[in-house]
Amino acid sequence: MRVVKCSLIADKTVLIVGLGLIGGSIAKGLKKANPSQKLLATDANLASLDLAKDAKVISRSGTLEEMAGQADIVVLAVPPLMLPTIIQSLERHVKSETIVTDVASVKSHITDALKNTSQVFQGNFVPGHPIAGSEKSGFEAASSDLFEGRKVILTPSSQTKTDAVALINLLWRSLGAQVIGMSLQKHDEVLAATSHLPHALAFAIVDALSNQDGSDDIFRYAAGGFADFSRLASSNPVMWSDIFVANSVATEKVLEDYIENLMILKDAIKAKDKEALFELFSRSKETRDRFIAQYFTKEKKLIMNNKPITFHLAPGGKVAGTLRVPGDKSISHRSIIFGSIAEGVTHVSGFLEGEDALNTVAAFREMGVTITGPENGELTIYGVGKHGLKAPHEPLYMGNSGTAMRLLAGLLAAQDFDSQLTGDESLSGRPMNRVVLPLREMGANIEAQAEGTPPLKISGSPLTGCNYSMPMASAQVKSCLLLAGLYADGETSITEPAACRDHTERMLMGFAYPVSVGKDGVTSVNGDGLLTATNIDVPGDISSAAFFLVAASITPGAKLTLTHVGVNPTRIGVINLLKLMGAKLSLSNEKTVGGEPVADITVEYSQLHGIEIPESEIPLAIDEFPVLFVAAANAIGDTVLHGAQELRVKESDRIDAMARGLSTLGIVTEVYEDGIKITGGPTGGGVVDSHGDHRIAMAFSVAALCASEPITVLNCNNVATSFPGFVESAAKLGMLISAGEKP
Ligand code: S3P
Repeated sequence: MRVVKCSLIADKTVLIVGLGLIGGSIAKGLKKANPSQKLLATDANLASLDLAKDAKVISRSGTLEEMAGQADIVVLAVPPLMLPTIIQSLERHVKSETIVTDVASVKSHITDALKNTSQVFQGNFVPGHPIAGSEKSGFEAASSDLFEGRKVILTPSSQTKTDAVALINLLWRSLGAQVIGMSLQKHDEVLAATSHLPHALAFAIVDALSNQDGSDDIFRYAAGGFADFSRLASSNPVMWSDIFVANSVATEKVLEDYIENLMILKDAIKAKDKEALFELFSRSKETRDRFIAQYFTKEKKLIMNNKPITFHLAPGGKVAGTLRVPGDKSISHRSIIFGSIAEGVTHVSGFLEGEDALNTVAAFREMGVTITGPENGELTIYGVGKHGLKAPHEPLYMGNSGTAMRLLAGLLAAQDFDSQLTGDESLSGRPMNRVVLPLREMGANIEAQAEGTPPLKISGSPLTGCNYSMPMASAQVKSCLLLAGLYADGETSITEPAACRDHTERMLMGFAYPVSVGKDGVTSVNGDGLLTATNIDVPGDISSAAFFLVAASITPGAKLTLTHVGVNPTRIGVINLLKLMGAKLSLSNEKTVGGEPVADITVEYSQLHGIEIPESEIPLAIDEFPVLFVAAANAIGDTVLHGAQELRVKESDRIDAMARGLSTLGIVTEVYEDGIKITGGPTGGGVVDSHGDHRIAMAFSVAALCASEPITVLNCNNVATSFPGFVESAAKLGMLISAGEKP
């Protein structure tokens, strides 16, 4: 990770309160990034201050009262229980615009400490916690690169000012850290388990052994294992006793769980139960090896999902009950994009915590946006404004998501920095010229591979508005160009040959950005507006609901209600087509939430019949065809689709992948370049390959409801990109599904 010099921080006078390991490392790191950085410090330990002055790390020192008024940024690097007193005194002496942060490993007690301060002070206070350290303490142990490549958690509240959050984010970026956001409560729970518990155990084991007879001998002969395990017991006792007092509730809880586990281990040892011990140790080893590989190696993105997941489906099963499907993927991506470049704080609820949308969150964090969550579908975005994104330190990984890559291409083309967009194997084979070519017409400097595929290399440049007529009805292309248009000189107008999803336009309106949507299929924006933060309630994804709409339609006796589903007119092709096929569907509880129509959908079994799919419905049902093909396989007669070449360049070639799988199951198909004919008939069983395509995997799971034999679906890992919890939801409704690692 490259340390960035950032002029916004370089101009500021930074006061470090507490020049121990963390405070000292911040001081040394800032000085290394910018030798002319003005640094002040205060510490009860005068020797530390002298050392720092001798090393020319700080320029001045004194008491808090003397130093506070001179600082633009104050970093409180003291043990947690000292914070309330220091905050009180600091408030009296800082300038009203001074931004304050801390580094404490416990955050919830900060809320109490801030309660008695003014609103201005609270708005300027950004709680933070670097996940870095060492068992050593003091300025001598401090190191300028302690935070390089390490994570820093910020826990701002809804009162915290976005400018303050952005500045503290930059401070940590300038030290080479990666900034993530979390709610205060979640932070304390996570840290209790991952940091506080191991420290407690290290202190406890050393203490327990030292109280035993012959402890000298024990320590004399203790080999590497003991030294490794007990390393944390050399940590600073002042700091750590404070941490356990401040985070007593959460640490007590994890300690209790741990003691229960320890009792199980003790029983297994007492019973000489080799099998139980072997199982426990193997499970632990596997878990640790996996997390080290995922989170502590550079290639983490390539080795994610490394164990192939297979779905096993028994024939038959029921579909009954009520379900709320996860949040809409398209809207979730867009909420992060627009929230990030808006002015102010955007709250999102109902967010899809699937891998695709989480990669988008990670990309914007990498560009300097502080985002807390998602926790139970809620997240908060501290917008940096249209021109506040920062150059990413590394290529932005878009995983499996064509939407994220194409939309970000438009946004990044207009920034004043360079960037690269990469993706997984499937995304790396998908066509990008559909956005690269029109972006170049706007003046973008963007390169794809020779085949027009990712990675994309973008050199940010000024753009000029354009009039573009899309050759295909693509919401991704339209949205990409609208995003570029937000930055372009003059007007950008896009004409779509047929209506395609309009979430971008609706969301722009939600963010109070002027956008003109004509009846003639022309959408225009000008580059001179601003986005104002708003709250977004993401409806359930109709593309995920579609699996269960078909499941209920083909299963005799089925009756199901899907609640709070997005029923935007540009997305309801699946409803229109199922109705044309004779499905029994009805909408209730219709309302508009944040500019998007939502409704509950009730569906029950009905004998379907084949249809000719009207071409106008194709863009409105573009992602639902895999499961609509399963509906067709269960209908009486032929279903014919033409004009759907786009299906060949989705996460897989969906015409080919579905035709192969349906043939394996005994369904007769005829494949065309632009579509397919499916003749309804009895479904058999067998092994089908999803080709790593989430929607193919879920479609074949639905097919099992009317199959005569079991169906095994291979390569189902990517279901997590759009529908985390699919297996559990399907099982809850009565489908006979399980997931495993073996074919
Ligand atoms: C999407 C648009 C559609 C769709 C994709 C999501 C979007 O793609 O297939 O899953 O969020 O804009 P195209 O616009 O390329 O058809």
